[in-house]
Amino acid sequence: MLISENISLLPFNTFHIDVKAKYFADVKNENDFSELLQEEKFRSQQKLILGGGSNILFTKNFDGIVVKNSFTGISIVKEDENYVWVKAAAGEVWHQFVLWCIEKNLAGLENLSLIPGQVGAAPMQNIGAYGVEIKDVFDELEAVEIVTGEKVNFKNAECEFGYRESVFKNKFKNQFLISAVTFRLNKIPKFNVNYGDIKMTLDEMRVNELTIKAVSDAVIKIRTSKLPDPKVLGNAGSFFKNPVITKEEFDIFISKNPLANNYPQKDGTVKVPAGWLIEQCGWKGKIVGHTGSHKSQALVLVNYGGATGNEVYQLALDIQKSVHDKFGITIQPEVNLV
Ligand code: FAD
Ligand code: EPU
Repeated sequence: MLISENISLLPFNTFHIDVKAKYFADVKNENDFSELLQEEKFRSQQKLILGGGSNILFTKNFDGIVVKNSFTGISIVKEDENYVWVKAAAGEVWHQFVLWCIEKNLAGLENLSLIPGQVGAAPMQNIGAYGVEIKDVFDELEAVEIVTGEKVNFKNAECEFGYRESVFKNKFKNQFLISAVTFRLNKIPKFNVNYGDIKMTLDEMRVNELTIKAVSDAVIKIRTSKLPDPKVLGNAGSFFKNPVITKEEFDIFISKNPLANNYPQKDGTVKVPAGWLIEQCGWKGKIVGHTGSHKSQALVLVNYGGATGNEVYQLALDIQKSVHDKFGITIQPEVNLV
């Protein structure tokens, strides 16, 4: 198993942060990973499993081994009258996988079109967009325990999915390499077009008959108009999660900020848009050194070129403080800080 030394991670993170990894290995399948598990350079080092690097901010050189997951393969596992179970290897590019499913007329992932990154990272934070999260169609995943090499399957409930949360971000953090994910997709679509601008965009596109492809195209159109393309401008999507506050906190908040959009949750709490809070604090479009809050989406912090991870992190801390000072709400990073 080839282990490279002193490798630049610049091509491997969408924030375009130029740091180095002491060791780097690209694993193409489970055999590669089993071999790697035997290597002293792996066993003795701090480890980081990397997908597409689209939800990571590197704040320093990585003093350990970065394992890039490049497992490939998509297959239909089983089907019944209503559903098809599709298994995708962790290294498949998420959006290519979504397009594969759409091509086969399988519904359930169309609202999650164009999210960057790989399949293996999708369960990490239960990726979500436009009213759908992967937990809605997730069946199970296969993982390898990093210390023992033992294979473990996780069913939906065992992943403890929440809003941008899973067991893999919490009690099992850095303990498993996810190798494949199986989704249960619908033969008969149940469209979810109530969220945000989807309906309006479908109208603009003059879509008369709703199809899986049409919903995907609408989502792609909205995302392209709002979010900076990481190939052009370094970023990792929403830097913070939208804060979820109690009903009591919300009543006080909304009496002072009657214009704020808000999303009541089933359990009585209320989600407040972090982008709005950040914009109200005057950060939207502001450039600070090599970094800043994006002009069309305040929640997205960007690298205008040459920013260090610490520069971006310092901006995030400043934004977090000003939101707390103005609204008494603490916004928490969504991006994984390394
Ligand atoms: P990475 O950044 O490589 O890794 C993320 C985390 O997962 C790290 O902790 C890493 O160690 C771990 N990890 C990665 N692969 C594995 C594996 N195989 N096994 C174990 N651990 C692993 N997210 C959303 O939820 N919704 C959005 O709408 C959305 N929009 C975005 C838009 C833009 C422009 C960008 C840049 C990002 C956006 N994101 C969004 C965030 C990001 O796309 C997702 O979090 C994505 O799932 C990250 O995938 P990745 O492969 O790049 O993960
Ligand atoms: N808003 C502002 N100013 C801004 C940005 C947003 O006032 O600069 C307001 C909007 O007007 C709207 C509300 O905030 O009322 C929500 O904005 P938007 O619909 O753009 O979504 P978001 O809450 O900012 C979330 C996810 C995105 C996901 C979209 C669509 C989080 C942290 N982010 O963004 O996910 O694509 O909804 O579902 O939940 C990501 O996780 O990286 C990500 C991009």
